[in-house]
Amino acid sequence: MNSILSQDKAPIMEALNKYKKMRVVPFDVPGHKRGRGNAELTAFLGENCMTVDVNSMKPLDNLIHPVSVIREAENLAAEAFGAKHAFFMVNGTTSAVQAMVMTACKAGEKIIMPRNVHRSAINALILSGAIPVYVNPGVNKELGIPLGMAVEEVKQAIIEHPDAKAILINNPTYYGICSNMEAITDLAHQHGMLVLVDEAHGTHFYFNDNLPASAMSVGADMAAVSMHKSGGSLTQSSLLLINNDVSEGYVRQIINLTQTTSGSYLLMSSLDISRKNLALNGQDIFNKVIGMAQYTREEINKIGGYYAFSEELKNGDTIFDFDTTKLSVHTLDIGLPGIEVYDILRDEYDIQIEFGDIGNILAYISVGDRHLDLERLVAALAEIKRRYSTDKSGLFDHEYIKPQVVLTPQEAFYASKEKLAMDRSAGRVSSEFVMAYPPGIPILAPGERITEEILNYIQYCKDKGSFMTGTEDLKIENINVVKEFE
Ligand SMILES: Cc1ncc(COP(=O)(O)O)c(C=O)c1O
Repeated sequence: MNSILSQDKAPIMEALNKYKKMRVVPFDVPGHKRGRGNAELTAFLGENCMTVDVNSMKPLDNLIHPVSVIREAENLAAEAFGAKHAFFMVNGTTSAVQAMVMTACKAGEKIIMPRNVHRSAINALILSGAIPVYVNPGVNKELGIPLGMAVEEVKQAIIEHPDAKAILINNPTYYGICSNMEAITDLAHQHGMLVLVDEAHGTHFYFNDNLPASAMSVGADMAAVSMHKSGGSLTQSSLLLINNDVSEGYVRQIINLTQTTSGSYLLMSSLDISRKNLALNGQDIFNKVIGMAQYTREEINKIGGYYAFSEELKNGDTIFDFDTTKLSVHTLDIGLPGIEVYDILRDEYDIQIEFGDIGNILAYISVGDRHLDLERLVAALAEIKRRYSTDKSGLFDHEYIKPQVVLTPQEAFYASKEKLAMDRSAGRVSSEFVMAYPPGIPILAPGERITEEILNYIQYCKDKGSFMTGTEDLKIENINVVKEFE
């Protein structure tokens, strides 16, 4: 990458190292006082970790109003990602997605988005009162998975809703599928709309030339980037990138509406160190990852029955591009839903993959993987096919049901509601979410009509062992629906 700043610096780490040598007497929080006050925790996490679990102070800056080392680290991240500014986020990409939506839309304003968004995007609508204009994603019939948005469908949504303030795009989806972000960004900008990109699964796009385009490279306005996924930082650490005319000061105010005032230096230093690593070594790192994913894909496809899919799916529109680091495998042709393969891998082979759903599994490949682990995965899948493959009749083959939106998510979430047994709720309007997690894409979102088809799908996911979430009832047996008559 071309850099003016020194990408080999990591200002937060350097400040923490300096601070450790200072022997400052801590009469401030956290109360574990560099670990001395909590021996068991210190033995568990290690002294190195506890001595840098500190609060904001003069030499360490403050996340809510960064003016020194955090600001320097954010500037370095902005340069590395090609953004106007980068915000360090310590409450996951969820908070970055929410900050994007709340920056672009006030209550009652519209946002165009695909319906296969992560729950964080619809949560943002509950918080802000923004109104979704859903674009149904394309669906691949063979794989049953939701794809990207067709440019024509986005154009249509813009024509029908010229007052929308923004368009949200997944880049890529969990499975690695990318929409034509450049065309959608140009369209949105021609109509005065902001482009917000959920790049929870796309950090690596910024650091390797053989991967799909990143949000900032095509001129999108904001992007929520999960450094803690493919970027290698600690869980929950994330970045919010901004570009163009988006105001840094206003976005910071929006972030500070919900962000902690006690930003974790463990998380922030992990962002800083990971950015440095990616800026210096990203091209090599992700070349290796692409190679490992490609090797494993080919081996899995040699087994037969499974389909580890990739770039051959590209169709110039709803699969405009494909992230070849993603190892997504279609399992239905061996007669097993993805979630069952996921369970067997975990329970019988001690292999933990990222997720399994109705028809597919996703194994997350990173530079931390070893070749022998890839071989183990391939061998386990071959054995699972030999031991368990069966007739696929009766298996569900699609993962996307078009929603019937009756109320906005906020109206439905805050409406007077009543609790009904799930199997008695058909015809009513849901006041809450139901989803399998991961991938965390709602099957039902607040404000949507519950149908027999949706209930059958939920029951099927439960029967197959998907981890279901979203309802107030932890057992997912009851659902809150909007009261019809006061
Ligand atoms: C597409 C997408 N967006 C946003 C998120 C939220 O990220 P986080 O778990 O860091 O809050 C996820 C999480 O998996 C995701 O898959």
